[in-house]
Amino acid sequence: MKNVTRRDLFKTSLAVPAVVVAATETAIGQEAQPQTAPPATAIQGPGRERLLLDFGWRFHFGHATDMAQDFNFRGNFSKSGNFGPLGTLLFDDGDWKAVDLPHDWAIELPFQNDPALSSKGFYPLGRAYPATSIGWYRRIFELPASDAGKRITLEFDAAYREATVILNGFYIGRHIGGYDPFTFDVTDFASPGARNVLLVRVDATQSDGWFYEGAGIYRHVWLVKTNPIHVKQWGTFAHAQVRPGEATVRIRTEVENHGKGARSTRVTSTILDPAGKTVGKAATLPASLVEGGEHVYEQQVVVKAPALWSLERRNLYKLVTEIQADGAVTDRCETPFGIRTCAFDPEKGFLLNGKSVKLKGTCNHQDHAGVGAALPDAIQYLRVRKLQEMGCNSLRTSHNPPTPELLNAADDLGMLVFDETRMMSSSPEGLSQYENLVRRDRNHPSVFMWSMGNEEGTAATARGFQILTAMKAVSTRHDGTRPVSIAPLGGNNMGKFGFAACDVQGYNYADPAADAFHKANPKVPVMGTEQVSAVATRGIYAMDPQRGYVGSYDPYTTTGRASCEGWWSFCNARPWLTGGFIWTGFDYRGEPSPYGWPNINSQYGIIDTCGFPKDSFFYFQAWWTPKPVLHLFPHWNWPGLEGQEIAVWVHSNLERVELFLNGQSLGAKDMKPDSHLAWNVKYTPGAIEARGYKDGKQVMTARRETTGPAAKLVLTADRKEISADGEDVAMFAVEVQDAQGRYMPIAGNQVNFRVSGQGKVIGVGNGDPADHESDKGSSRKAFSGLCMALVQSSKAAGNLTVEASSPGLTPASVTISAKAVKLRPQVAVWEREVPAGAGITGLWRPAPMAAAAGRGGGGFGGGGNQVFSFRQNGNALSGTVEGGGGRGGGGDTPIAIEDGKLDGANISFSAAGVVYTGTLKGDAIELQRTGGAAMGGRGGRGAPPEPAGPRPAIGPPPDGSDPSSAAFIGLGRGGAGGRGAQTPAPIVLHRANR
Ligand code: GAL
Repeated sequence: MKNVTRRDLFKTSLAVPAVVVAATETAIGQEAQPQTAPPATAIQGPGRERLLLDFGWRFHFGHATDMAQDFNFRGNFSKSGNFGPLGTLLFDDGDWKAVDLPHDWAIELPFQNDPALSSKGFYPLGRAYPATSIGWYRRIFELPASDAGKRITLEFDAAYREATVILNGFYIGRHIGGYDPFTFDVTDFASPGARNVLLVRVDATQSDGWFYEGAGIYRHVWLVKTNPIHVKQWGTFAHAQVRPGEATVRIRTEVENHGKGARSTRVTSTILDPAGKTVGKAATLPASLVEGGEHVYEQQVVVKAPALWSLERRNLYKLVTEIQADGAVTDRCETPFGIRTCAFDPEKGFLLNGKSVKLKGTCNHQDHAGVGAALPDAIQYLRVRKLQEMGCNSLRTSHNPPTPELLNAADDLGMLVFDETRMMSSSPEGLSQYENLVRRDRNHPSVFMWSMGNEEGTAATARGFQILTAMKAVSTRHDGTRPVSIAPLGGNNMGKFGFAACDVQGYNYADPAADAFHKANPKVPVMGTEQVSAVATRGIYAMDPQRGYVGSYDPYTTTGRASCEGWWSFCNARPWLTGGFIWTGFDYRGEPSPYGWPNINSQYGIIDTCGFPKDSFFYFQAWWTPKPVLHLFPHWNWPGLEGQEIAVWVHSNLERVELFLNGQSLGAKDMKPDSHLAWNVKYTPGAIEARGYKDGKQVMTARRETTGPAAKLVLTADRKEISADGEDVAMFAVEVQDAQGRYMPIAGNQVNFRVSGQGKVIGVGNGDPADHESDKGSSRKAFSGLCMALVQSSKAAGNLTVEASSPGLTPASVTISAKAVKLRPQVAVWEREVPAGAGITGLWRPAPMAAAAGRGGGGFGGGGNQVFSFRQNGNALSGTVEGGGGRGGGGDTPIAIEDGKLDGANISFSAAGVVYTGTLKGDAIELQRTGGAAMGGRGGRGAPPEPAGPRPAIGPPPDGSDPSSAAFIGLGRGGAGGRGAQTPAPIVLHRANR
């Protein structure tokens, strides 16, 4: 038997930080977790492109109450077009911040000690914080001319919480709800063969939940191009009925005709097995699909000897859908799915492929250290792997639809998902959100049940029955293969009122109620929907309300109900009980518990916000995994407590454990299943050691030694290689050690991270629930001896070296490689070229024009804009003017400069008939424009001026002057600019970078 030490794990870089935190423990056959890279979304084929629209955005705060600070956005939707300068190519967003999605601006804000913000994690969002509650996003992209005739769709996986979408100055639509995906067909507003400007105003003033939710476009955005005849969004559904030796895959395909006239359309469905081999195919008969119509095709394919999806073998099949219209392929898309059976048995609990699987679950919110709610896909994988390390096999997406990539991770790594909608409601909005969830997620084999909500008091009323029945009808219509449930407030009324509409009876916390219900209703399946709510601070062993810390022994729950051990021993003793979902797997921001400020996050997690395990992690690992576990705590650094008793606990699944203090036995104890061992030990510096026995033989030891002062840093990466795609992320964990290489459990040294090579730090964290340092930046204090940095690849392949340093300590560095990969299909980033060269060569823009409250069209006031690209060559000047043509600033097509000259400080040129003359004045150029149409945008309608000359006191002059005469031209429309032949005021140009 080979004992692998922790040091070996460090050396091989296989150690995940979960192992790092365990003190000097040796384990038998420690297994590395799979290093699964996030899969490319493969919905791509002839007639269809699905392009990631994450890179190259610009961000700027707006304002929830002050229009002037909100780019003069007036929330006026009176006209569809002309949403003002902000939505045009010419707008100068040079002072907007460059961001890539997913992006959460909340995590970048400084904490505010305002009790009203506690649910938000003390980030300043909401009505009282208008300056940090509105975010504007801008993205310019080119569409090739060949896109003419295609349907162009924008898909937002979600934005928090109210999004207003504007394309090319046209108001497209709004969406409310921070977790619900939304899609806009923008075909009529997009410009093929040109640059397009996408503008999104995100309002995070309102809340969905009572926990941290982030702010902004915190999930992916996609640009989808299809032919007019195409598969509807989420319009494919494959589910299997399994019999011995074969499975019948039933396929539903929804096809839309956005083209002209009726078309004869057919669907061919091909099934590929996990190795990519075709194992079945079916084609429908052609059906006539009318213009503007939709048709649902049903097919069946028998797959022989199917490879079932299970927690151990994540076999994923692929449905390839091909649409033909009048013989030509118009669409092709791929849908991964799994073949498996899920069932609930009132006696045996949950059955996956006929085998009883106890649901060892956790509830989780969606934020993570360093990135807030904006998780790169790789972090979804990291989180699922962490949960699996402790033996967790299922999760509940409390209390909202998850980011789709979490479900990809669950499918790929083998984790069952109880998929939850945000709110129990049968209102149009509530049903639409639930429908989106079901349609989007119904092909994921990991999703085993729909959750129609959480702790809704109305569920236990007659109205609740009506609402839940209406919701259930939606999932039956769009899925029909999965049961539904809801997480109730406690356990009263199980089986009654709204709960009578549920296939499985859930209960939150109320274990005795579950027992009573099962006794009275032995034929109804029961599942714990939310359990425990134990609080613990990683590495802390005493209650400290001042600093916001809770001792990390098990029994502290805020519900006053079962601890981790209390819950699991209850659950495991009841075969009929399906299992349940502990509140929570990971700590999360907001709902600071059990204290308020200085806590900024909850401490319910079995794992902290970074992914570092707390002690209870090892309780579950001991009883939820087959691997031998021996975890000893607390640490043994207690200066000043000499001679006082310290509770020493052991989590282990070995048969017997003996505890030693400085070599002296304190007695051996037998381990009872699903429990822990405890000794009270009088503190003496030195070492405590646990020796674990199995079959009478000592198989493991765990030691905690009194360490010397912090002396060095040890750095580990959770991945040896990541993808050079600008998206992938590795976690670099720092452990502070003493001079003898022992983990220093009370170290709080400031650690600085530096990345050289192909990557950057995107966030840092330490799991301290009361730390008010920012997660953004590249430096973090260690907390209980640990901290970490998330490092993201660039799109260039090569090595990436992270160095961790701390004043007075020996630094550490680790190099991993970023390997070249094919980038997933994405929308190229468009940047205006900035000419480089001598003299006035470069980009120039006029000083901002005063905004005016224009009528109609969108709700921004303000005039036009121009961009000058100058190239000076001696006395000759060439380049372009954008916004140099027509009225109101003109089109945005660059117009070539003609007759450009520089003579000392004097400049002259023309563009599209407008003559520009002016002078260089220091860093500025003052230009006078004459000829052509006047510049300036359409402002508000000014009052018509009185004509000059004699006139009566009341009424127009007696000479019958015509108001359309020359005297009026150019004066009628006020605002910035105006119509007519007046000589406009000179413009002053400054250098610009965009
Ligand atoms: C539950 C609730 C969770 C969380 C938890 C804290 O009742 O469903 O969202 O608030 O309490 O104990």
